[in-house]
Amino acid sequence: MNPRIKKAVFPVAGLGTRFLPATKTVPKEMLPIIDRPLIQYAVDEAIEAGCDTLVFVTNRYKHAVADYFDKAYELEQKLEKSGKLEQLELVRNVLPSHVRAVFVTQAEALGLGHAVLCAKPIIGNEPFAVILPDDLIWNRGNGALKQMADAAQATGASMIAVQDVPREQTGSYGIVATEAFAGRSGRINAIVEKPKPEVAPSNLAVVGRYVLDGRIFDLLENTTPGAGGEIQLTDAIAMLLAEKPVHAYRFQGTRFDCGTHIGLIEATIRYALDHEKLSDAARDMMQDALREMGVHELD
Ligand code: UTP
Repeated sequence: MNPRIKKAVFPVAGLGTRFLPATKTVPKEMLPIIDRPLIQYAVDEAIEAGCDTLVFVTNRYKHAVADYFDKAYELEQKLEKSGKLEQLELVRNVLPSHVRAVFVTQAEALGLGHAVLCAKPIIGNEPFAVILPDDLIWNRGNGALKQMADAAQATGASMIAVQDVPREQTGSYGIVATEAFAGRSGRINAIVEKPKPEVAPSNLAVVGRYVLDGRIFDLLENTTPGAGGEIQLTDAIAMLLAEKPVHAYRFQGTRFDCGTHIGLIEATIRYALDHEKLSDAARDMMQDALREMGVHELD
């Protein structure tokens, strides 16, 4: 029986420059979709997948992420006293009691690969997950990470989430070449970071969910800085797949790139339209707005 992942790494030490000036004080991962920050969606997905140890790789300015998962004594007391029990539950349940949060500092933003490497002392040599919270994945059934953790446990392979993107967008992603897919997964032969469309080996793009063999840490330690002087996770994965099976996993669900303005807007609209209390009002509001601005009505 292959081991089940129990630990997840959340690299949240990036500068979030695309959301400046908001991200001057609010980390990108704390931007909300409706009433929950992006990091909460990511954490819930990891817990659903079976993780009980969550490693947040932060930088020294990002106290907000640690504060968010800390106990808020005063707030809880006030809510309790004023009988706001529903809200009290919401505040208490950001992290279930069986789950522990560990915070690691990435002293310098030396890239995603370097951020993952910072989690090595807590992960050790076991398979683990990496979630990038700004890739929000919406699905009615099992979350993307649970789908991948199940596949990893069944096969013993590392799993990397992929989605088909238009060829002209390959330069924004890591792109994989694979063997033929069996169901949702196919073994990766090659991975390249941000190739131009004319040289991209496929249009299968890596998105922010990974189940990785612990061997990746040794490989990251031997990875020299690549594009932009950063230690790239993609380069270490390229070495890993020469040693061990690494599969691309076409997850079920819709991914929103909340690291971009339009992605965050799209996710907000989609979650509002799916929200049990907000959907009717959101739909009416959108129809009114489009009508007022002379755009076609929604059907
Ligand atoms: P991005 O490429 O989205 O960079 O990083 P960013 O800094 O967050 O955002 P922009 O591009 O400036 O707007 C992808 C993920 O890797 C993490 C980020 O926090 C994000 O989750 N990361 C990146 C680190 O943790 N450390 C790094 O050195 C770089």
